Amino acid sequence: MEQYVIKGGVPLVGEVEIAGAKNAALPILSAAIMSDETVTLENLPDVNDINVLIEAVEKIGARVQRVDRHTVKINGSTISKCAVDYGSIKKIRASYYLLGALLGKYQSAEVPLPGGCDIGSRPIDQHLKGFSAIGAEVRISHGNIIASCSHMHGAHIFLDIVSVGATINIMMAASRAEGRTIIENAAKEPHVVDAANFLNSMGADIKGAGTDVIRINGVRKFHGCTYSIVPDMIEAGTYMLAAAATRGDVIVKNVIPKHLEAITAKLNELGCEIEEGDDSVRVVAAKRLQRTHVKTLPYPGFPTDMQPQIGALLTLSQGTSIVTESIFENRFRYVDELSRMGANIKVEGNTAIIDGIEQLTGARVSSPDLRAGAALVIAGLAAEGITVVDDIVYIQRGYEDFDGKLRGLGAEIQKVDSELEIRKFELSVG
Ligand code: UD1
Repeated sequence: MEQYVIKGGVPLVGEVEIAGAKNAALPILSAAIMSDETVTLENLPDVNDINVLIEAVEKIGARVQRVDRHTVKINGSTISKCAVDYGSIKKIRASYYLLGALLGKYQSAEVPLPGGCDIGSRPIDQHLKGFSAIGAEVRISHGNIIASCSHMHGAHIFLDIVSVGATINIMMAASRAEGRTIIENAAKEPHVVDAANFLNSMGADIKGAGTDVIRINGVRKFHGCTYSIVPDMIEAGTYMLAAAATRGDVIVKNVIPKHLEAITAKLNELGCEIEEGDDSVRVVAAKRLQRTHVKTLPYPGFPTDMQPQIGALLTLSQGTSIVTESIFENRFRYVDELSRMGANIKVEGNTAIIDGIEQLTGARVSSPDLRAGAALVIAGLAAEGITVVDDIVYIQRGYEDFDGKLRGLGAEIQKVDSELEIRKFELSVG
């Protein structure tokens, strides 16, 4: 089992290049199989979740050719089955996007029902409600969702809850239904917009993505295209917060600054200086951070996927901060680990009350999930002494070359896989 070992206390300085967004790449890779012509996807992040989905797509018969580390060509004309195996969904929940893609293209899909996960129970009732509205018969049998349709037609769908996954999944299937579908109370995240842009590049007719109401005119067929995935706002935000936590000076490159506004606003409140370029953001944290309050909300609110990282940062702020998680019920599992590093945090329901301290101290901690793992790395980078983060397999699901990029900013961090290597690192950093 690999770990990150970190000697903290080094201010991060320099430039870091952001990869394509995992959460846009997952639906886009799934949707790519909806064309029988070749689709070329560029700027795919080289992270575990994407590689697992590529395998799942190959298993149902699509041809996938890796052009280079960040580019693949996909051809969905050879798909031989509409059933996704349990192994794939077990590793990544987002293989549920194959449900919308297969249903849209073949009017038939069978995907195992994803179970609960590390951050909450995560039902998918809104996805299924949307599929039923456009004419699919949806049933659950032996742990699988089985959706089939003889005539897929447009419908007016009002989502009960703002859901990224449901919005994109319904958008995919409805883009091949006959007639017009309207999704109200749609999610507005940049990855929803990116998925819509991609579908449109294949010939779909989707308008309004990025607003509450998405209008889709169904089309019969998709063609091939070349498409480049949008930059990852969560990866970018993680480096911005790491810069702040270490009182560093970092230029985060290849980003869309507009997507980062909620994070930038919080960093301003904390006393950091932010400079926005056309496709970069510079974070300078010269003095001790101030306190602030954070509440997670759907986009353009503060993203739940940045909540653990800002929680880690606020442990070092002057005064008391309150963090409220309003999207997922189980997103404070990093708190006990941070407490081992000296943080002063109390969780009550969906709220964490954080009394800032001057200095965290390095400790052995374990990554409970993807973003919580990133938060522990940020804490380790800021802490005095050595931190070992276990279970980094979670972090590798969503961050490309995390340790390499941090080393590029001057961090003392290594990926290791034995006690001996941890010892060697400790000796090398003195
Ligand atoms: C996506 C992101 C995830 C992010 C989340 C919120 C991907 C692969 N994952 O997850 O990183 O944290 O958006 O920005 O893109 N809900 C229901 N019924 C449904 C669907 C959702 O009750 O059918 C609830 C969820 O339990 C949650 C809320 O709606 O409380 C939002 O979930 P949703 O936006 O769907 O998250 P995901 O698409 O799963």
